[in-house]
Amino acid sequence: MNTNVTTDFHSHILPGADHGSSSVSTSIRQLEIMAKYGIKRAVATPHFYPMRDNVDVFLRRREKCVSDLKEKLTGGHPEICLGAEVLVCEGMEAMEGLEKLTIVGTNCMLLEMPLTAWSQRLLETVDALVSSGIRVVAAHIDRYPQREVERLLELPLKAQLNPGAFFGMKKSRAKRWLESGKVVAVGSDLHGTDEKRYISFAEATYRLGEYAEAVESSMLELLSGAETLHID
Ligand SMILES: [Fe+2]
Repeated sequence: MNTNVTTDFHSHILPGADHGSSSVSTSIRQLEIMAKYGIKRAVATPHFYPMRDNVDVFLRRREKCVSDLKEKLTGGHPEICLGAEVLVCEGMEAMEGLEKLTIVGTNCMLLEMPLTAWSQRLLETVDALVSSGIRVVAAHIDRYPQREVERLLELPLKAQLNPGAFFGMKKSRAKRWLESGKVVAVGSDLHGTDEKRYISFAEATYRLGEYAEAVESSMLELLSGAETLHID
């Protein structure tokens, strides 16, 4: 791991919150892997799907997962900030309680774009979320077609990259986005306990190169004031 990067901004590590972890023991293993690679804080970002979840039901479920996990945490595990990976849909700005899906203690939201084509109305929804005062960080922009992402990045929002951004054909795009200052976060998007996935995240942090320090500072700034789950 690049020693300048100690934050994982995107992970699925809460037991039973989504398909990232099916049990407390899986979550603990995930946290052990993170610690092994030098991660000191992770944002837990279980999926929020607006077509199947409502905000309060989601938050209650997340709270239950947290209480199950909390009992098994030790000081050797990374601190955990609580967030969500919020899949955006048209008109979502009108959803009641949406702001509660920001990372707890901050006004920052990890927003996931759909894999289907993005309508103008959808981009207007994203714009409305930004205008409402939410600091929107678009999740893993490396996963989408370039032309679509360029439209999204015209909005006053920032972005997060997954490890896949730093390998193969995608590398030059990632460099351009880093140069532009749009990338403020990196994350493993860890699901399950396959350590190889974390090794590629570690490799990606090396590939951040001269941008590693700035990205880490941006993540810390976005998380300033965030409440953390941590046992000393
Ligand atoms: Fe994710």
